[in-house]
Order: sequence, then structure tokens, then C-alpha cells
Amino acid sequence: MTHPAAAPTRPEAPRDAAAPLLDVRHLSLDFTSPRGRIHALRDISMTVPRGRIVGVVGESGSGKSTLAYAVIRLLAENARVVGGEIVMDGRDLLTLSPREMRGIRGRRMSMIFQDPMTSLNRVMSIGQQMIDIQYRDPISKAEKRKRAVEALRRVGIPDPEDRVNGYPHQFSGGMRQRICIAMAMMVEPALLLADEPTTALDATTEVQIIGLLERLQAEIGCSILFVSHHLGTVAELCHDVVVLYAGEVVEQGSVRDIFHNPGHPYTQALLDCDPGRIKEKTRRLPTIPGVVPSLVGDQVPTGCIFKTRCPHAFDRCDHEVPPSYAVVSGEVAPDAPHTARCHLRDAAEERRP
Ligand SMILES: Nc1ncnc2c1ncn2[C@@H]1O[C@H](COP(=O)(O)OP(=O)(O)O)[C@@H](O)[C@H]1O
Ligand code: SF4
Ligand SMILES: [Mg+2]
Repeated sequence: MTHPAAAPTRPEAPRDAAAPLLDVRHLSLDFTSPRGRIHALRDISMTVPRGRIVGVVGESGSGKSTLAYAVIRLLAENARVVGGEIVMDGRDLLTLSPREMRGIRGRRMSMIFQDPMTSLNRVMSIGQQMIDIQYRDPISKAEKRKRAVEALRRVGIPDPEDRVNGYPHQFSGGMRQRICIAMAMMVEPALLLADEPTTALDATTEVQIIGLLERLQAEIGCSILFVSHHLGTVAELCHDVVVLYAGEVVEQGSVRDIFHNPGHPYTQALLDCDPGRIKEKTRRLPTIPGVVPSLVGDQVPTGCIFKTRCPHAFDRCDHEVPPSYAVVSGEVAPDAPHTARCHLRDAAEERRP
């Protein structure tokens, strides 16, 4: 378990217990393409505090997966980080060598994906795969196998002594995702990255997997960066939310603040597309009128990135990029300040007596 007070101090990277586990600072990332550079992430700043679950939410194409892959440094060949830092344990992950990064992946950080087959080998038994990922541990194969069985039991695989010999195709989608969670959690990571891990599952299985992640996070004390386009899922699992739109963070804060007092018209539009709000989970994709702007070359709009779809747009939105304004909510969460990048927040502050 990684607890701020108990976190060991590494000589090479003294850690500030109060500092967030993950601190993404002004991250900008392009993809090269025949059409020109795609400015997929622009000036992203967000944190994952220790022991908290942070949801990253937004429509398809908003940059959620790219952000998660950038953190674990598993980006496509054509990705280029053009600015910013990704700081974990006091070190900028972007400056680490591939070898140093391999030392962090699967130890301090692990990841689960929408499709469990992304991380499972079809032609190898589950047990063998779980033994293989323990290659760094100086224990016998029998002990590694025992650990694998316990890890499967922990995530609710029935009859794990027997099922550990099974192959991925012998399990349902939900069970395969449980196996991936078991593998990711076996190393007791400080940070688990989860990219839409329930999107391909039916609603009942999704609820079970969310419950499992919630329980394991509490047991291990890790932080989770949870990517989803389902606001309902985010509300159920996460403590904090980062709202991404077309490669920019438009709002962030605690789940409570974002759901009860959204400060950005895009967040409001996402909520309007999710009639159940917090109480009733919806699996419906948000449908907001209009289209996401092109992020290619110099086609990224000037001013506010949401202006082409915003019902409240006014002159200033056309030419001035909105900074992060503090949104004053009923509850002040010190770990999750509530901010929104919308000029309307500025006007709101001005109207304040
Ligand atoms: N390998 C790639 N090459 C070119 N463009 C990409 C690549 N991966 C993602 N993109 C583009 O980057 C943007 C963000 O994509 P992504 O991170 O997958 O969004 P999300 O996960 O929110 O659906 C999209 O415009 C997408 O088309
Ligand atoms: S800055 Fe303007 S266009 Fe952007 S979200 Fe606010 S009101 Fe809408
Ligand atoms: Mg994605």
C-alpha cells in the first residue's frame, strides 16, 4: 500500500508526500499524418493525487487514450511530445530512457484496456502469463503460481486453482477483464491506468467491474486514472473528474462539484446528454449538436476551442483563449480545486459583490 505518510524516500528522487502522485504539466502532443500535424493534446495540466481515482471524460476523439498512453509511454510511432512534463515520484517520465521506463511500467504503474485481449496472449495459459510478469521476483515458480491463483481469487475468478490453467478464449469478456485487473494489480502499482475498461461489457458486468476496481483501490491504496465517456460510470467510481474537449482540459474538480455545479458549457452539455445524472447510469453516448473542430495544422480554432458548438459564445470567445477560472462551489475540496476554462466564469466573478 502506498500511503503518503508511509511512502519510502528514494535517495535519487525524494518525494514530497503532499505532492500529487502524477503531475501532468502543460503537456502538448502531436501526431504526424499525411494531412499535417494533428494537435491531439494541447497544454494539458492535471494531477492524480495519491490514493484518489481521477476520471478523464469526454467525447470520442477528445484525447483521453492519448493522455493515458503518454503517461505510460506506450504511444504510437507517429506521436511527438512537443511540450510539457509528466512528473511522477519527482521525475519527469518524458526524460527517462526506454530502459528506465520499463522499470516503472509493471511496477509503479500498470494499465488495463478496453479490450482485455490487448494485454493477454491467446496462445499461453493464464497461469503462465501471470508467472511471467513476476520475472523480477526472486521466488520459486511454485510460489509465483500460488500468487497467481490468489490474485485470480481476489478478483472473483471462481475455482482459480483450476482456471489458472485455462486460456483466454475459455473465459467470458468480463472474466477476461477480471484477469487483466488481477495482472495489473498483482504488482500493487502506485498508479493504475484504465482506458475504458468497461465500455465493451454489458451493463451488469460493468457494475461488477467498477465495484471490483473500487474495492481493490481501497485495499491497495493506489491511484487510478480512469478514462471513460460515460459520466455515470465516472460518477460511480471516481473522486475527481477532468473534462477533455478536442485535446484541451476544459474543466476539472471533484465529482461532486462537477456534477452539481458544472462551470463549463461543454460539461453542462455532457450532463444534459446523460439524463440519469448520478443516480441512473446511462450507456448512451453523449450527442451534442455540432462537430468537433479539426485539430490538423493551423485549423485549430482561435479563442475558445468550444466556440463552434457553444450556445453562449460571445465576441471575446472568438479571439481570446479562456484561462482556467476558479469555480466557486459550495464545497471546497483542497485536493481537487474546481476550475473551468470559460469566459463566462470571468463574468461571473466580476458580478460577485
Ligand atoms: N496514431 C494516431 N495517428 C494519428 N492520429 C491519432 C492517432 N491516435 C489518435 N489520433 C487522433 O488523436 C485524437 C485523440 O484521439 P484519442 O486519444 O484516441 O481520443 P479518445 O480516446 O478520447 O477517443 C483524435 O483526433 C484521433 O484521431
Ligand atoms: S469561452 Fe465562450 S465559447 Fe467558450 S465555453 Fe465559454 S461561453 Fe462558450
Ligand atoms: Mg480512447
